[in-house]
Amino acid sequence: MKRYLITGCAGFIGSNFVHYMLKKYEDILLVNLDKLTYAGNLENIREWLDDKRHVFVQGDICDKELVTRLFSEYDFDVVINFAAESHVDRSIRNPEIFVQSNVLGTVNLLQCAKEAWYDQGTWKTGKKYLQVSTDEVYGALGKEGFFMETTPLDPHSPYSSSKASADLFVKAFHDTYGMPVNITRCSNNYGPYQFPEKLIPLMINNVRHHKALPVYGDGMQIRDWLYVEDHCKAIDMVANDGKDGEVYNVGGHNERPNIFIVKTIIEQLHDRLQDDGISEELITHVEDRLGHDRRYGIDPEKIRRDLGWYPETPFEKGIVLTIDWYLEHEEWMKHVTSGEYQTYYEKMYRVV
Ligand code: NAD
Ligand code: TYD
Repeated sequence: MKRYLITGCAGFIGSNFVHYMLKKYEDILLVNLDKLTYAGNLENIREWLDDKRHVFVQGDICDKELVTRLFSEYDFDVVINFAAESHVDRSIRNPEIFVQSNVLGTVNLLQCAKEAWYDQGTWKTGKKYLQVSTDEVYGALGKEGFFMETTPLDPHSPYSSSKASADLFVKAFHDTYGMPVNITRCSNNYGPYQFPEKLIPLMINNVRHHKALPVYGDGMQIRDWLYVEDHCKAIDMVANDGKDGEVYNVGGHNERPNIFIVKTIIEQLHDRLQDDGISEELITHVEDRLGHDRRYGIDPEKIRRDLGWYPETPFEKGIVLTIDWYLEHEEWMKHVTSGEYQTYYEKMYRVV
């Protein structure tokens, strides 16, 4: 039985990963370490809280004593680090916590894994550390070209800088000590359980309530959207079959301008709810994000060629599944948008 330490898996991608893995594997143990920040939510994994294959531990990846104790208690084979502060806008306002959780937290996990897995110059067999990273570490593209694994790191935001720093520490543990590591760099995810500070769930929630739709600048920035389950599949493949020390870019060649995404959500919800209060008049162009990256686009050829990964959910299907999920989970949305979210929203979107 493989024993995994997975971190940050009460958040968006991590909770989808818990669902994916526990539906796929009978003989597995997932120890899920999550601090439950504003972005973590036990409701996301409620159906697995009593499952003997899943142990939830509330705690911080920066806590050396706790992580060391977990390693000695469970003798992990695999560590997958999802835990991070993940929102660019928050990083622009308050970068310090991004250094703490994303950089120092990653170094703590690497160090604890090394202490558990490395003895007198030799690594125990069958071990793997996988860092869940982002295409944002490559910076921004012009109209042409794609991010390759060989593209130089050129992060712009405090968020992407913290993720790039973490990636460099993962590389350092591989290059210096020979640690068996992989890094995945995925494009923008969408799907169930995404916190409504991010573009797609924020717009779905606002459209639903006839609230202004805050499009940054001209809305012609391009993101490469991937359905979250396809990302989970890629992480599982890399954890099992990724070649030691390798980076894998994950993306589905699904580049769309933000304004297209917003208009798609308006159209879908208008038709689904037969509600004429839902129209493009809700779109409000607001001040652009500082240092806003213009375009992201992934070349996923390496993971396709080496591991046979490909995205299964086309955008047209994924966006319908996502909208359905949010319509069916109004209580979830109500819960996560109460309290801290209100304060955040008012400060962030004061212009609308
Ligand atoms: P999220 O913000 O929804 O969830 C992050 C989770 O990490 C939360 O449950 C939070 O409680 C937990 N966490 C934060 N700091 C912690 C700490 N110090 N110790 C323990 N737990 C902590 O983020 P997400 O969108 O699910 O992203 C997960 C990972 O995937 C991140 O590393 C992110 O950089 C990366 N990523 C995200 C995207 C995307 O589109 N969302 C794309 C590529 C990569
Ligand atoms: P986001 O979901 O925050 O992801 P990221 O910044 O990591 O790509 O934003 C996706 C795009 O949508 C990005 O170009 C910023 C833009 N955006 C808006 O125009 N308005 C919004 O309210 C939000 C949250 C994002």
